Amino acid sequence: NCDVKLAVMGRAGVGKSALVVRFLTKRFIWEYDPTLESTYRHQAIIDEEPVTMEILDTAGQDDSGQREGYVRWGDTFLLVYDTTDRCSFDEIAQIKAQIDEIKKPQIVHTVLLGNKIDLDHARQVSVEDGERLAVELGCAFFECSACNGDGCISDAFYDVCREKLRQ
Ligand code: GTP
Ligand code: MG
Repeated sequence: NCDVKLAVMGRAGVGKSALVVRFLTKRFIWEYDPTLESTYRHQAIIDEEPVTMEILDTAGQDDSGQREGYVRWGDTFLLVYDTTDRCSFDEIAQIKAQIDEIKKPQIVHTVLLGNKIDLDHARQVSVEDGERLAVELGCAFFECSACNGDGCISDAFYDVCREKLRQ
């Protein structure tokens, strides 16, 4: 009775929780709360079809053993990095490789999302870098800000669902 199980992955502090909350409530949370992990159930209408999503907001600062559990749980993945944190970007390929390894031979649906574009003065990852990585990983790419709602937060969440529903 759940169509899409979406795990939101990425290094600690990239804004996974802020993005999930913005997507679900259109609000922003300022307080930094290192998440253990939480799951949300959400009824969405995507392309005029009702879709039941389960969203797992994962904890970024954990060992890869914990990450393996998230990957086994999910069937779609939002790979989030912080455009002001180069290390968070460099970690994405490794996360994707781990997902592929665990899920093979299954095809996994992933979307790459660069967050915090409101902090333009502190940018360390260009739009072109993001686009290039998305091509390498074979996934769609979006940039956004959980803070001011700029960019395509909902589009990113819906896009990854669409890929799953279409298969
Ligand atoms: P973990 O749960 O520890 O893995 O971190 P997380 O990825 O869930 O990050 P979280 O959503 O807690 O955000 C980390 C910090 O970045 C918080 O202080 C947020 O307020 C801030 N933040 C998140 N998104 C944005 C954004 O788009 N712009 C700005 N300026 N700050 C953001
Ligand atoms: Mg969090």
